[in-house]
Amino acid sequence: MSSKKSKKSKIQLVKGMRDVLPDDQVYWDYIREKVFSLAYPYSFKRIDTPIVEFTNLFKRGVGEETDLVSKEMYSFVTQGGDKLSLRPENTAGVVRSYIEHGMLNLPQPVKLFYIGPQFRHDNPQAGRYRQFWQFGFEIIGDDDPILDAQLIAISYNILKELGINTEVHVNSIGDDNCRPQYLKVIKKYYSDNKKDLCKDCLSRLNQNPLRIFDCKNKKCQSIAEQAPQILDNLCDSCKEHFMTVVDYLDEMDIKYSLDPYIVRGLDYYSRTAWELFTENDKEEKTSALGGGGRYDGLVETLGGRPTPAVGFAIGIERVVIKMMELKVEIPKSKNLDIYIAQLGAESRKKALTLFESLRKEGFSLAENMSKRGLKDQLDIADKKGAKYTLILGQKEIADGTVIIRDMESGVQEVIDFNKTKTEIRKRLATHEAKNLKLKK
Ligand code: HAM
Repeated sequence: MSSKKSKKSKIQLVKGMRDVLPDDQVYWDYIREKVFSLAYPYSFKRIDTPIVEFTNLFKRGVGEETDLVSKEMYSFVTQGGDKLSLRPENTAGVVRSYIEHGMLNLPQPVKLFYIGPQFRHDNPQAGRYRQFWQFGFEIIGDDDPILDAQLIAISYNILKELGINTEVHVNSIGDDNCRPQYLKVIKKYYSDNKKDLCKDCLSRLNQNPLRIFDCKNKKCQSIAEQAPQILDNLCDSCKEHFMTVVDYLDEMDIKYSLDPYIVRGLDYYSRTAWELFTENDKEEKTSALGGGGRYDGLVETLGGRPTPAVGFAIGIERVVIKMMELKVEIPKSKNLDIYIAQLGAESRKKALTLFESLRKEGFSLAENMSKRGLKDQLDIADKKGAKYTLILGQKEIADGTVIIRDMESGVQEVIDFNKTKTEIRKRLATHEAKNLKLKK
């Protein structure tokens, strides 16, 4: 009975997870390229940490009381009895690795970036998934406000260069010196307004009243609007740190607004905190494209010596959705040199070896060996943006020649098969020179 049932039950995608289908990969490739193109000039090195970590890492690092850890983690016990979790975010893992691999002894600060999947058992909806990808940048080992400003600028510029104009919402949430006092002030304020708070906020009031600023409930929001603001309650050194960050932002022409509601949902933050929203989403603060902040206490919390740090992460799915919504055009790759087309059994064989020998020479190539019609193959070459197509037919095999077709002009010439590489090189050089002239 049960085997019959299982035969019939439909195998399908797990709720909250998504396939990234081939047609969407152009966006993902483009985003990855953009991340690399900003990370390396700014001297960030890539780090990959495991998807699975000890549950304690997140309990201690991100905070046991946060929604992320208390409600949204995929946690399990292994057969050997280890308590593990799929990572809900990457900062804790990066800091664990920084401590474990003695990166404290490298010249500071250490600049790291990552791209990878994260897991949160949240309610799935548009732009909110249970498996989603983030890319993130972390600078560990320096508390200079210029680093906060640089990271804000990098997060802003990546999105801008991907065709998404954003506004940075920035705040300071103080440090261990001034935050406890501020928490007392707002605890008193919210207690006085207790009767209008939602159930979640009533428990936040005891655990972390700062999180009430994050609530989406309209009544709670209107109470939060009148609440004493943290910027008015910062200690002198946090105030100066924040003013300097903002000063640099002005200098770099970053579009930002001071936003007392940016308190971030994770416990490790201190001082600067920011989130990125597209301009139209300003009011609807449910869909930040990215966020980050300082986490000066995290290295110590996880067992390292006191080490300041700052970082951010951006959600790739949300960026892709936004790019599609905005109809951002992905530039076509201009790098395809040669498409190899073939007609007939013998020429297919020869095309196989020709492809390999040109590939080893470093030409960028494309082919569709299973296609039989020339028109089909030329259409594909055209779509892929090939500069030239080499055509091998029965006649060319018999004559020891190959046809080279300029895809832009449609002009075809017959060349000696043995001189294929030299002839291609010659033409590619002319092509390049022509393009350079046009650009001038
Ligand atoms: P976060 O604000 O929790 O920060 O996540 C950063 C971004 O990940 C969000 O702005 C969003 O784009 C994306 N994201 C979060 N949850 C989901 C979801 N369920 N589905 C789709 N996208 C999602 C962090 O994770 C911190 N580790 C950032 C950081 C790095 N702070 C310092 N360094």
